[in-house]
Formats: sequence, C-alpha cells, structure tokens
Amino acid sequence: MSDNNKVIIFDTTLRDGEQSPGASMTRDEKLRVAKQLEKMRVDVIEAGFAIASQGDFESVKAIAEAVQNSTVCSLSRALDADIDRAGEALLNANSGRIHTFIATSPIHMKYKLQMQPDQVVAQAVHAVKRARNLIDDVEFSLEDASRSELDFMCRIIEQVIDAGARTINIPDTVGYAVPEEFAYTIRQLIERIPNADKAIFSVHCHNDLGLAVANSLAAVGAGARQVECTINGLGERAGNASLEEIVMAIRTRKDMLGVETDIDTTQIVPASRLISSVTGFPVQPNKAIVGANAFAHESGIHQDGVLKHRETYEIMTAQDVGWNTNRMVLGKHSGRAAFRSRLDELGTTFATDAELNSAFARFKELADKKHEIFDEDLMALVSDTRAAAASEKFKLSSLAVTSQTGETPLAKVVMQVEGEEVQAEAMGSGPVDAAFKAIEAIASSEAELQLYSVNAITQGTDSQGEVTVRLENGGRIVNGLGADTDIIIASAKAYIHALNMLDANIQKAHPQV
Ligand code: KIV
Ligand code: ZN
Repeated sequence: MSDNNKVIIFDTTLRDGEQSPGASMTRDEKLRVAKQLEKMRVDVIEAGFAIASQGDFESVKAIAEAVQNSTVCSLSRALDADIDRAGEALLNANSGRIHTFIATSPIHMKYKLQMQPDQVVAQAVHAVKRARNLIDDVEFSLEDASRSELDFMCRIIEQVIDAGARTINIPDTVGYAVPEEFAYTIRQLIERIPNADKAIFSVHCHNDLGLAVANSLAAVGAGARQVECTINGLGERAGNASLEEIVMAIRTRKDMLGVETDIDTTQIVPASRLISSVTGFPVQPNKAIVGANAFAHESGIHQDGVLKHRETYEIMTAQDVGWNTNRMVLGKHSGRAAFRSRLDELGTTFATDAELNSAFARFKELADKKHEIFDEDLMALVSDTRAAAASEKFKLSSLAVTSQTGETPLAKVVMQVEGEEVQAEAMGSGPVDAAFKAIEAIASSEAELQLYSVNAITQGTDSQGEVTVRLENGGRIVNGLGADTDIIIASAKAYIHALNMLDANIQKAHPQV
C-alpha cells in the first residue's frame, strides 16, 4: 500500500503525550482535545491506554462515543486483559482501533520481558488474533524497533500481518535512530517481508537526539504511510515527533516528499494553544510553526523583503497554520443564546441547564471587567466553571491580599474543606507567595511546588491571566490551572485545583513499565 500518496496522521498527544510527567489531563480536557483533533481532521486519535486506570478507560470510552470522523484508538500491551479492556472502551466507536505492542530488541526481550524471541513472536501473534476478534482495525508495534534485529523484525511482522494486523508500527522508542539508517530499515522491511503489501507501515519517533521529525520524514521517503506524532511534540522524555512540523514539512515540501495529509492546517495553532493551556507546558517562542516568534520578522532587512514580496523570507503564511484566528466573539451585551451557540461551535456542550447558567453568570461577570471576550477566554471560563462545580475537597470562597511598597504582603483566605468553611492568613515574599502559604496553612498537603507560570490568555492589560501550578507529592506530579482577570485569584484557583488533583490520587499503570 506504500505507493499511495496519503500519509495517515496518527495523533498520540492523549496517550504518549500524556506520559510526560505533569501532563496528565482530566476526562473533560481530553474530550476537548479530541474534538479539536477531529476538527483538524486527524485520521487516528490515540485516546489513551484503557487498562491504565478507571479514568483512562472512561476517557477512551467517552472519546470513542463523541468522535465521529476520526478513528479512535486505545493502546494495549500484548496481554489478554489489556486487549479486552481496550475493546470494551472502543465498543461504541464509529471507527475504532486496538494498538497492541511488545518489545522486540534483544536488550528489552532479555532484561525487561525476560522472554525468548520465539515466545515474543507467539505472544504477538496471539495478541493480534485476540484483538481481531474484537475489532477489524488492529495495529501492532515493535517496541524499541530501532534497536531490534532486522531478520527478527521481518519474522515477527510477517506473522502478525498473517494474524490480521493492518498497520505495522516501527517505533524509535528511545530516540536512537538517525535518518539514513531509519529510512534503510523501513525500506528493507517493506522489500523483504512477503506480505508487506497487506499492511500500512507506520513510524513513531522520540526526540531524544532532536531527530524525531527528521527520522519520521526519512521513513515517509522510504515508504511509511502513517506517522505517529503529538501536538507541540509533547511526549515521554524529550517528546515525540511534532505533528505541526511533520504536517507543514509535508505540505511545504511536497515537491521533495511527494505525499500529502488531510489535515486542516488552520486548526494547528488553536490545537497547540489548547494543549499548552491544558497541560501547562508553555510553547517556546522560537518553536517551529506554533512558537510566538515563528512568523515574526525582527530584522529590518527581512521586514523590508517581506513587505515587498512575502516569499522573500516566508515559506508558509501565518494564516495557513491558524495564527490570527483569535476573533473577538462576544461582549457585554451578548445573550445566553449567543453564548451557548459559540460554545457549541467550539465543541463544548453543557450536561445540565444549571451548568450552562453558572457558566453564563461567570461570562457576564467577566464581560463587566473585560471589554472583548475571545474564544480563549470562553474556553478558560468553562474549565474554571467546571472545576468550581466539581465535588472536590477544597474550594476557594474568598481571598484578600494586601500588598504595598515597603510592607510584607499578607493574604487572608477563606476556603470550603469538604463543605466546611475554614480561614487562614499568611505573609509571603510576594502576594502570590502569601496566598499559597495561606492555602497551605489550611490544606497541609506538604506538596512541593515545581512550577508556577502565568500566561495572558489574550492581549491587553484586561486579559485574563491563566496560571499553571505544578505540585509534586510522593512521586505524583499534577498541574493545576486557574484563570481570572486578577492573577492572584487565578493563582489561588490553580493551586487549589492542583491540591484537588493530588487528593483524587488517581493511580495509573505505565504501558512501558
Ligand atoms: O515509544 C514507543 O515505543 C511507544 C509504543 C508503545 C508505540 O510509545
Ligand atoms: Zn512512544
């Protein structure tokens, strides 16, 4: 099938991306991301690892039910229980895929699996057959393929294709490959495996040497027709190949690569912003395609050239990838119907009228403080409303902070702890520090603050500040988010959100451990 020109874009932001420490997302956040990926016309959305936890199972299930136009996939090890759980989560999918994997490199087989190569082949074949009994679309991955022996890969791949795998994924799990070598491997596999034409060859590259995109594109040149990637390059360790870079390289250098994708590239920047805000991982300003400076021309010579003839210094336009989609959508006089309809367009629906009413009341409060309300404001407001409505241990009732030149800032906080009102006050080196200390005086979480970041959601000093607070406790890392036009309040909300996530104490299995 490798003579086809279409490259399937398989997004694994919700699975491999979520394996980044601190990047865990709630079910609602994952649903928002999945809807955005569908809108961007991603072919396959890897929604999670269904057996990892009850929360992961529910997220995969909810995404499988909500997404109509992309295939929804769940990862599973080559184990019966994993495969059955993935099948169960995908039961209602319009188009579902089970992605099963086992390690094939000598080092992984010997030390991690403690299995003989023959046993690995038998387990892989068994897993693919079991998955095919549940679903038609089965993908098989050879974990650590880039350090596996070619002959062994040929042997196992031929057998899993016979067992019913439609997609064969060749991961560079540890980010070890270099482009020429990786392309050679893909070409050899496609040429040497007798039934290779019965499957699509896929690649999944990690970025430990900064080569994930280069390796993926080299593999496409060698015949791979699916690329696994993530928004903003999120993922284990140094991350995965970045979706936006793969897609825009394929589009911009069609003359060299000779392939195309179905991605609506104007949805790339909104997707990047959504991931950044949900995970709290900022995008570096000079990041290709989605960095704030990616289309900014600072030098006078460049500016002059671009004004005279854009192509002198620009190989793609900012509009192509969705910059400038930041539309002013609603204002103080907008009514409930307009509010609801814009959120519908953004893919957010309310479970109950009470939820809609409470979000609308917050919208009116915001519109009183802020003249123009943008899509980003609306999305932040909805997350905030949902966080406040959730039945969580800690809730913020009020916060007063005094901060004045020459004086030590003082914060007074009133919180609900399991429904009971509690108050505390604390001094700090700054108003945020004082607020966090006052909250800690109540919560006594002993969590360690790992990251505090503030982003203006839109432009102007009346913008809402979106704050991320990353807390670590007993090896668990969570990101709390809060948004408000008052950044001290946004900070307190983010801190409390993180405390509630720690309190929920969701344990999940890691697929590769
Ligand atoms: O990096 C990897 O090998 C993976 C597999 C599970 C596909 O993420
Ligand atoms: Zn991976």
